[in-house]
Amino acid sequence: GKKGFSSSAVRNVVIKHVTIIGGGQMGAGIAQVAASTGHTVALVDTNEDILKKAVKGIEGSLKRVVKKKFADKPEAGEEFIQKVLQNVSTSTDAGSAAQGSDLVLEAIVENLKIKQDLFGLLDKAAPAHTLFASNTSSLPISDIASATKRLDKFGGLHFFNPVPVMKLVEVIGTPTTSQETFDSLLNFSKALGKTPVSCKDTPGFIVNRLLVPYLLEAVRLHERGHGSKEDIDIAMKLGAGYPMGPFELADYVGLDTIKFIIDGWSVMEPDNPLFGQSEYLNKLVAEGKLGKKTGEGFYGKK
Ligand code: NAI
Repeated sequence: GKKGFSSSAVRNVVIKHVTIIGGGQMGAGIAQVAASTGHTVALVDTNEDILKKAVKGIEGSLKRVVKKKFADKPEAGEEFIQKVLQNVSTSTDAGSAAQGSDLVLEAIVENLKIKQDLFGLLDKAAPAHTLFASNTSSLPISDIASATKRLDKFGGLHFFNPVPVMKLVEVIGTPTTSQETFDSLLNFSKALGKTPVSCKDTPGFIVNRLLVPYLLEAVRLHERGHGSKEDIDIAMKLGAGYPMGPFELADYVGLDTIKFIIDGWSVMEPDNPLFGQSEYLNKLVAEGKLGKKTGEGFYGKK
């Protein structure tokens, strides 16, 4: 090691350069936050158009941040935006983008095979010290990691939408994730200005494991005729102090996403009544009424 450093003093990889694969809703949000907190970011997606849109989206979001943060100093705000954007580069080649990166964070489509293929490729391309993490909401981290030979350097970093606003990061350790890797991922989350919690690699981690059955239970309560959607939403906002009611939240998250998660879990645990089907949800998804993204879901067009 270097003079003056005992090797135990530099146990954790300090994450400075991050490669983010997937420039969609989540990847672009994570890239924005990482670049805003002094990290350099290589953002990867399948084509240039998506990447351009992602960078435009980051710029637009930064403008909104700056309007509040630098309300009386618009020039300092513009300078901040330029500095953050300079920290972001884009690429359509995941393998070469991973070069020189301390962490590769994946936020691509929620499909196990596609994620495994990506990480198989990255495992060969990335330097040996590079940590890997997935932002998956519903797939076991261990299953994704199994496509690599760096099981000790693989964990989960689960962010929440919208990433610049939501303070929580779930840090997920598998049985093979090393303590050093886990600590590095925790410290990275803190460096982003987020609050990390430690999770095991179990379906839904903490938040979704509680939230998704709750959302479905709200739908079932309504299906039994025991409350209108509006009343259930008002009840949970004013009675439980939730910022959104379950039907509003489901429309925001996307009904297809909720169905996808519950379908996956019910395969893993077929006898768990919390993971049961809802006819009403299935009907809306079949009709393409997916919530905010299609303009109609549990609630009609506004
Ligand atoms: P999205 O559909 O907005 O973005 C996914 C992006 O990945 C797309 O731009 C797509 O072109 C790109 N992509 C797909 N395959 C690729 C590949 N092989 N290489 C490079 N890029 C590829 O999806 P979103 O919502 O950002 O979700 C991404 C991940 O984050 C999923 O695993 C999801 O489960 C997870 N997640 C989503 C949350 C949400 O609220 N939307 C919350 C937390 C996690």
